Amino acid sequence: MSATPVRPVALVTGSSRGIGLAAAEALARQGFAVAVNGPAEDAELSAAVARIAALGVPAAAAPFDVARIDGHDAALAGIEARLGPLTTLVNNAGVGVLRRGDMLDVSEESWDRCFDVNAKAVFFLSQAFARRLLSRQRAPLFHSIVNVTSSNAVAVAEQRTEYCASKAAAAMVSKALAVRLGREEIAVYDVQPGLIATEMTAPVIDTYRERAEQGLTLFPRVGSADDVGTLIASLASGRLPYTTGLSIPADAGMLVPRF
Ligand SMILES: NC(=O)c1ccc[n+]([C@@H]2O[C@H](COP(=O)([O-])OP(=O)(O)OC[C@H]3O[C@@H](n4cnc5c(N)ncnc54)[C@H](OP(=O)(O)O)[C@@H]3O)[C@@H](O)[C@H]2O)c1
Repeated sequence: MSATPVRPVALVTGSSRGIGLAAAEALARQGFAVAVNGPAEDAELSAAVARIAALGVPAAAAPFDVARIDGHDAALAGIEARLGPLTTLVNNAGVGVLRRGDMLDVSEESWDRCFDVNAKAVFFLSQAFARRLLSRQRAPLFHSIVNVTSSNAVAVAEQRTEYCASKAAAAMVSKALAVRLGREEIAVYDVQPGLIATEMTAPVIDTYRERAEQGLTLFPRVGSADDVGTLIASLASGRLPYTTGLSIPADAGMLVPRF
């Protein structure tokens, strides 16, 4: 009798919609079992789980607020009880600023919210994930963490300083994790999306589209959630062998130096 093949298992944070959902779908198409996350157990999360399950892989709802660090361990344990040992963590959940405007008016509330979700949660969820992986014998599968930061990890958006600073922190967390986890053969990547059409960018997407068409991006168009989701799934499937610690712009060349 042949043994059941071991299946990779991914948790994608913030996968109830947008880039996270697209990443979850792309991972499912690669045969991953997927834990779908959002802060609440709502209709959007259930619909996302149904979309993943329809692709023929095990899928589970994993509602938890990534900013609640004390809930991480229980959340990961719950996912593993349902889907099996995790191989992959995609830290995608993120929030924008509470109000765009002059950085001289940034509130402490907006600063803390950006850092709690976009940076602190990325570090501590990765820590909890890595501790679990290191505490056991792992299947001979590719193991990785993929963090979704932003072009704003390197490029200033003057009206969203606290967002930029939190994404720069997450980019450094990615590099540090790559250094620590390299000896364990766990790859760590930092994906930096540029101008992507999702709910987060809906209020400004027309302006972004115009600027892309005028040459801000080398491909004269904004990106889709599927563009970034496909890239994330490629990285998490080990399609870039013998690499770790990379920051990968998903921005149609927006930040290529030019003059
Ligand atoms: N769109 C872009 O152009 C762009 C560019 C650069 C970087 N990014 C980054 O890409 C990631 C995804 O962005 P997106 O455009 O897909 O955003 P989105 O459409 O706003 O989706 C964000 C997802 O994260 C979830 N989320 C937010 N806070 C959470 C929390 N505390 N705990 C768990 N889940 C939480 C949201 O759930 P709820 O709605 O239920 O809160 C939602 O599922 C973010 O990290 C964002 O900063 C996006």
